[in-house]
Amino acid sequence: MEFLLKDFQIERYRKIYGKEFFEFLKILPQSIRINTIKISVKDFKKKAEERSWKLKGLEWYDEGFYVEASENISKTIEHQIGYFFIQNVSSMLPPLILEPKKDEIILDLCAAPGAKSTQIAQLMENTGVIIANDVKVKRIRALKGNLQRMGVVNTIITMMDGSKFWKTGLKFEKILLDVPCSGSGSLNPRIFQQIGKYTLNYLTKIQKRLLISASKCLEKD
Ligand SMILES: C[S@@+](CC[C@H](N)C(=O)[O-])C[C@H]1O[C@@H](n2cnc3c(N)ncnc32)[C@H](O)[C@@H]1O
Repeated sequence: MEFLLKDFQIERYRKIYGKEFFEFLKILPQSIRINTIKISVKDFKKKAEERSWKLKGLEWYDEGFYVEASENISKTIEHQIGYFFIQNVSSMLPPLILEPKKDEIILDLCAAPGAKSTQIAQLMENTGVIIANDVKVKRIRALKGNLQRMGVVNTIITMMDGSKFWKTGLKFEKILLDVPCSGSGSLNPRIFQQIGKYTLNYLTKIQKRLLISASKCLEKD
């Protein structure tokens, strides 16, 4: 993996993760979230058994699983019809912390491609409203595809610069702000490879602007 990275990147990731970092990358497990809008966990487990997939449940989230499979799970019919979403375990945490409830109105300011929006929809049992915003048209297409695939019907897509979203005057009690980032936490060397110093500087600036905008959209107590 090291050959994919530039010297300053190697140094940066070693500082964040320690010496074992590159060993750790070699054993990255695949994880999925079962989409309870379309199938129960019990029925999905049966399907996984039929396909000889090994599932290992997360201790803190009933719908989250590590998967071992000898086939490409993204190419299966179960994936195409939205029985599950391939999602990093860490990415399952923010929607759980947000605690979306049935019939609430929630803003997801940087939503594409929709891993967390679709998880929020599932936690809301497809009720209430999610405003799923993103600035990039290509990513909005992916978001739309994922919402459809997962059977989500409570979501409105908007396309605007999130740092200006506060100008709409809309207020929300709950906002998910999943800013564009360096991918340092994704443990994916291909993502690390794309990040240079210039991009890091740009990202920190836009992250601050998005945070200010999101905080202005929050309903005050
Ligand atoms: C970390 S990704 C979001 C992942 C998404 N929340 C999910 O769980 O699938 C960050 C997103 O922010 C979007 N983005 C970047 N700049 C933005 C801006 N100024 N306003 C709104 N979205 C922005 C990117 O297009 C990208 O889709």
